[in-house]
Amino acid sequence: MQALIAATKAFLDIIPQAAPFLADWPAARPMRDVAPSELPVLAWLGDCSENTVPATVPLVRALLETHGLAWRQTYGAADLPPDFLARYGWTELVGQRGPVPSDVIAAGFLLLGPETHYPRHSHAAEELYIPLAGTAEWLRGEAPFAPVPSGVPIHHPSWMPHAMRTGAAPLLAFYLWRGGDLTQKSTFI
Ligand SMILES: [Fe+2]
Repeated sequence: MQALIAATKAFLDIIPQAAPFLADWPAARPMRDVAPSELPVLAWLGDCSENTVPATVPLVRALLETHGLAWRQTYGAADLPPDFLARYGWTELVGQRGPVPSDVIAAGFLLLGPETHYPRHSHAAEELYIPLAGTAEWLRGEAPFAPVPSGVPIHHPSWMPHAMRTGAAPLLAFYLWRGGDLTQKSTFI
């Protein structure tokens, strides 16, 4: 876990858009014990090592070498169809649920399987995504879907609607949240 935390920090340190989030990065304090959990979407995690760019390779490699992560879902059967839930999951590194405690930022990894549409949604927290592997199409505000390559940050101000959809390859992306309720369930719009 320490190697993953170090790789995450090193990756974010050279991304200017991440600076406001890193300002709230928690100081060293006792880690939280998190029970490991797996999801069907992990079937595609291994494929992510093939769809990186040089800047994202160390972090993807560190993630793949880290065991004991808790992969979770915000939504359930009442929110989205089974096809989506079989191809969606995230694991929090920093925040109110992950191994590095913080009440002011959340950070972790989102994994979407191929041919998956994460519907248009919004939330109070300001968000920064950095795709690590795979080139998904992203919708931001009122703009149409457009492809975003790995390594290119995507910023969502508070309550800005956004959506993602994958093609033949899965998407692995790093996310940062700050402000608002860090465990909020997004609103579909
Ligand atoms: Fe979001």
